Amino acid sequence: MKTAIIFFSQTNNTLKVAEQICDGIFEDTGQCDLLKMEEVSAGSLTDYDLIGVGCPVFYFKEPFNVRHFIEGLPQQKNKHWFVFCSHGAVMGQTLLSMTKCLEKKDALVIGSHHTYANITVPFYPKHTLTSGHPDDLDLREAFQFGKAMVKCSNAVYSGDTSYITKPSPVHENWAKDGGNLLTHALLSQTIPRLSINLETCIQCNECQNSCPVNGIDIESDPPRIQEPCIFCLHCASICPSCSIEADWSPLVKMAPANYARYKEALNDAKDRGEFRWLIDPETVDCSYPLHKQREHEIKDD
Ligand SMILES: Cc1cc2nc3c(=O)[nH]c(=O)nc-3n(C[C@H](O)[C@H](O)[C@H](O)COP(=O)(O)O)c2cc1C
Repeated sequence: MKTAIIFFSQTNNTLKVAEQICDGIFEDTGQCDLLKMEEVSAGSLTDYDLIGVGCPVFYFKEPFNVRHFIEGLPQQKNKHWFVFCSHGAVMGQTLLSMTKCLEKKDALVIGSHHTYANITVPFYPKHTLTSGHPDDLDLREAFQFGKAMVKCSNAVYSGDTSYITKPSPVHENWAKDGGNLLTHALLSQTIPRLSINLETCIQCNECQNSCPVNGIDIESDPPRIQEPCIFCLHCASICPSCSIEADWSPLVKMAPANYARYKEALNDAKDRGEFRWLIDPETVDCSYPLHKQREHEIKDD
């Protein structure tokens, strides 16, 4: 059996999970290739029998670049696939959506896995409800999932389909349609317009180099920013001089109400045995979002 795991990851949560799944598969088969999605061409997967694809959850679904990647694959008849994701409080319909996309390519999706992880966006606090995840236990579960996928794939190739599992259903009604409603068009109106402050920009090119869709060109005049865009806001979260600016205030204002819903969702997940609190939720301070915190850190330096 030849296996590959393809991942997209910006703050390394999905990468950590992907590495563990890869190690689990390697332990049982002696081979597993770990591939960055940005470096995989759609037609290059013909040699693999089992392929995993994993990503963060953005706006209750797989990020737009991941969806486009799957949509661009050739037919996958007779290939076994599995899907996985890392996410904050609410996974929404990510695993279901990725599965459906792959099934349109005739792939057989044999399993899925999700992992709670911390969330990094400029308008939410840095110390957040899911901080501390993925921890060792989450990563051990990912390792075991890798082994389970080998067992399942071998069984299916020998005619036993009893180990195939379907993705978990969406538990929160309010998140059920979120991913469908938050279209690219709607997000482009809702997410604040980013701009580069050329007086403070240090031309380090980090935003340009880390944009997953090559949506930034700071050398052009005026600089091209956010075109195309998947609204990951990674550029604004990482800019070392905080020169990618936006009016975050509407989203910061919404944070306490969102966090109340997220806390409820996490308590429900805890009751289902899917989530463990690693921080005290009362210590999360929505009035001190990441972008303010980073600005203070830069001033203090
Ligand atoms: C723009 C953006 C949107 C996000 N939307 C969601 C979401 O709808 N639900 C959720 O549970 N987490 C959400 N998250 C949190 C990420 O899914 C989580 O931090 C993930 O582990 C990041 O993975 P990475 O480190 O591999 O990039 C979002 C993060 C970003 C940056």
